[in-house]
Amino acid sequence: MQWLEINLKCLLIFLIGHIKPGIGNTYERDPNGYLTYCPCMGRFGNQADHFLGSLAFARALNRTLILPPWVEYRKGELRSHQVSFETYFDVEPLQKYHRVILMSEFMDQLAEEVWPVEKRVSFCYMERKSLQQEKNQDKQCHAKDGNPFGPFWDTYNIDFVASEFYGPLHFDVHHSAVASKWQAKYDVESWPVLAFTGAPASFPVQLENCELQKHLQWSSKYREGARDYIKNILPRGAFVGLHLRNGIDWVRACEHVKDSQHLFASPQCLGYRNERGSLYPELCMQTKESIVRQLKRVIKNVRQTQPKNEIKSVFVASDANHLIKELSSALNRMNITVHKLDKDDPYLDLAILGQSNHFIGNCVSSFSAFVKRERDSHGFPSSFWSFPKEKERQQQQTRLHEEL
Ligand SMILES: *[C@@H]1O[C@H](CO)[C@@H](O)[C@H](O)[C@H]1NC(C)=O
Ligand SMILES: *[C@@H]1O[C@H](CO)[C@@H](O)[C@H](O)[C@H]1NC(C)=O
Repeated sequence: MQWLEINLKCLLIFLIGHIKPGIGNTYERDPNGYLTYCPCMGRFGNQADHFLGSLAFARALNRTLILPPWVEYRKGELRSHQVSFETYFDVEPLQKYHRVILMSEFMDQLAEEVWPVEKRVSFCYMERKSLQQEKNQDKQCHAKDGNPFGPFWDTYNIDFVASEFYGPLHFDVHHSAVASKWQAKYDVESWPVLAFTGAPASFPVQLENCELQKHLQWSSKYREGARDYIKNILPRGAFVGLHLRNGIDWVRACEHVKDSQHLFASPQCLGYRNERGSLYPELCMQTKESIVRQLKRVIKNVRQTQPKNEIKSVFVASDANHLIKELSSALNRMNITVHKLDKDDPYLDLAILGQSNHFIGNCVSSFSAFVKRERDSHGFPSSFWSFPKEKERQQQQTRLHEEL
């Protein structure tokens, strides 16, 4: 019996040893090189904005994009968690737009040949200071300094031997010939992988890159999770999806409204050049009363414009207060129930919101922006809390009546 086990083990080891190179062969080295980055800024909404820009940048440079994992922060933990890209999104639809490879697969199968340890250089615009920096130390990117920087690269045992400051080059490949400058400065031979300390992209996402969202398709786990929730938990019929951003961090962030023309994702409703108005406090933070008012108005509107889709429920995603009680009592007379996930899962929230018959989001929030872009790619309707401004809307309505 023992003999058999030992032999089986040997056989297994033998088999694995022989299968592995086979898998390796499925990845041919890209002669045009690779590009990757740490999604080191913000939570998922920001990382998604950065992802779209980085994808466009990789394509403009014609380098394969190494798909970084998503960086997540969990309560009470000092180190970030890295979650594989494909946990949430399918890789294949991205391939239709540009060459991509999961970071885990690149590191397992190609790094040894393409990116040997002595060629691992981190890219940053200019020197990044470190807290632990000693005097007279050489200028560096300090790509692994702090959280999530260190934990991110550690996930794949990546250390850097040098730093490269790429300034004054930038990432705006849509309005300049900067892509060819990158290619001229960083040839593939000497620079097989451009590894950026932060995303090579702007925040919020550039207007030109919003449409790339259509290549970001939920993995089957989330597609099916959303479908099952809608089918099994929500009452049969249409539903409105809401995103309520109202945690304490958001209250503080909204204080910046008064000294800016834009905040976070606000160009998505105000326009990138404020062509649809300037920033105002209610766009960032709304009162319960105005939320209830607007929701009722939207429901009436959907009943008129989509009479076949009778709204039976409301689904709420929130970082703090879902307002379940308030919304339930406000909608009770309309026979509409209000729901949220039993167990927090912002990704499932996003996938469900994407499927709602109408979506109301927070214009300033990049989490809402993700849903809005996904819905735009399907032609699904969305609106924003307190947009347009209530007074302006009334004026617009009176003007309309006058014209009639
Ligand atoms: C881009 O890279 C691919 C793969 O390396 C290559 O086949 C293609 O010719 C390149 N395109 C241009 C315009 O250089
Ligand atoms: C309210 O909705 C439920 C479930 O959709 C339905 O069974 C019931 O008849 C409705 N009641 C009214 C008064 O419309």
